[in-house]
Amino acid sequence: MRHSYFGKVKLIYIDPPYNTQSDAFIYRDDFSAKQSEVLAQLGYAKENIDYIKNIYGARTHSGWLSFMYPRLLLAKDLLRDDGVIFISIDDNEQAQLKLLCDEVFGQENFVADVLWQKKYAAANDHKTIAPLHDHILVYRKTDEWIRNLSIRTEAQDKQYRLADENGVFRPDNYLCNKSAEERPSLYYSITQPNTGEEIWPKRTAVWRYSQETHKKNVAEGLVYWGKDGIGRVPAFKRYKSRLKNGGSLVPTTWWTFEECGHNDEAQKETADLLAQKIFSTPKPIRLLQKIIRLGACKDDITLDFFAGSGTTAEAVMRLNAEDGGTRQFILVQIPQPIDPKKQKEAHHFVTHTLGKKEATIFEITAERIRRAGAKIETELATKAQAAAQQPAQLEGFAPDPASPVAPVDTGFRVFELVDDPDALILQKPLQQATQADVLALQAAITSPQPTQLPRVLYNLLLSESLPLTTPLRTVIDQHLYLAGDVALIVKALPLVELTDTLRTLHGQGITVTYLTVYAPWIEDDNFMLGIKTMAETLGFSDDKLRLRG
Ligand SMILES: C[S@@+](CC[C@H](N)C(=O)[O-])C[C@H]1O[C@@H](n2cnc3c(N)ncnc32)[C@H](O)[C@@H]1O
Repeated sequence: MRHSYFGKVKLIYIDPPYNTQSDAFIYRDDFSAKQSEVLAQLGYAKENIDYIKNIYGARTHSGWLSFMYPRLLLAKDLLRDDGVIFISIDDNEQAQLKLLCDEVFGQENFVADVLWQKKYAAANDHKTIAPLHDHILVYRKTDEWIRNLSIRTEAQDKQYRLADENGVFRPDNYLCNKSAEERPSLYYSITQPNTGEEIWPKRTAVWRYSQETHKKNVAEGLVYWGKDGIGRVPAFKRYKSRLKNGGSLVPTTWWTFEECGHNDEAQKETADLLAQKIFSTPKPIRLLQKIIRLGACKDDITLDFFAGSGTTAEAVMRLNAEDGGTRQFILVQIPQPIDPKKQKEAHHFVTHTLGKKEATIFEITAERIRRAGAKIETELATKAQAAAQQPAQLEGFAPDPASPVAPVDTGFRVFELVDDPDALILQKPLQQATQADVLALQAAITSPQPTQLPRVLYNLLLSESLPLTTPLRTVIDQHLYLAGDVALIVKALPLVELTDTLRTLHGQGITVTYLTVYAPWIEDDNFMLGIKTMAETLGFSDDKLRLRG
């Protein structure tokens, strides 16, 4: 992924194991060896991890931080310069994570520590102060990231319940909390325009506006005297049309459950879609929708590498269904085994309902995305049907183009990380290779399996730094494929045929800039010898011909 998605991801959301006794953080006692391996694989220096070990003494914090560190370094590499990362965490690791993120992303890129109200009531048996919130740490990659304004919630819009010839408005207080002694100039009488009565504020709460501003308010028709106009308490008319930023709101660090949902809502969402108690700590879809709306645009990529029940994918698909966006998601989930005793429902769901031999969390992630996609499509079809049956509101008016009838892409591809059988043998140092390795390599080279073709093609995409969504076009079945402007040659073919085909593509206006040859499957030495000359003849410079594998 690092090659293909380096600097391409706009938003990363992660909800890592919180390192509390209750969560299923695996590899708890096995950090050191694993982390050094991960760092080495990613090409990061081993010294990087010493930073963490030096400053954190506590065994568990240090272990968890060592686990997070390489993942955050990689996350930073994947982010675009105008990208942003949101990380869910609770009080157990919030402080440690904040310092780690300062180190990885830079203090100057800290955006906010959002408080999400995950519960609506305290646990009765809590011994001290019951926490009702989670933290969401937000870091941008650079100051190029621009946040989107929040859209108004239904509750906020509901306040605008009155209307007159100038539009929709909400009545706002005309009084303030100062006394006549504190603000003598705001203690004056106002004439009720319809009854002629002189109205005085209370001595303990005077008018909010000076006499001059009040006169201006009257002239502009901004004073409200109740439905029938004869009330005794004036109010200020706050018109929706006068709201700054067209009514959009500057996001804040306080995210209530009314707006973003809570733990129980998230449980219910997975229960409705999959089965009861399927996943211990999913996040609500509304929370993810808020994050994605705030941090990314309609055609951006969102990555979640602790996917769990796959909430992020559902949020992305739902947002696309709502506004016709073409957002994409990348989810990563390890095949973490599900404990048949501790997670009975989840285990039963995977082995019985889904009929899988091995019960892993990955199966739940994939099934959630499938079912959520199907549900969203059904919902859209129902809406479209209802819209079609609705008589046109006004004659001559076209149907609203923003109406949610556009199809939404709910498709996704599943990739599994496996050791590449061809690469495995080739990567062995020569002095360690056994005769069996040589024979296996020979077998692999002389008998490429058609079933292995997808693996080879997708690995080639990755080695060419192309996204996994790049369309693959078959030019000559089992031999030549096109991905963007890269020709992928997976099996030898007569060089004359290859030359002619490349010329034909050129004639059709199809650009081929690179020729990539998958070496392990080329059994013909003459092809290897000849392709360089052929490429030169066709005008490909040396660096445009690549051998992979
Ligand atoms: C809190 S859950 C994520 C929940 C998710 N946000 C949702 O809404 O369903 C944390 C995830 O981290 C994964 N995880 C636990 N230990 C891990 C490890 N050592 N490496 C990678 N992932 C791990 C778990 O499988 C789980 O899916």
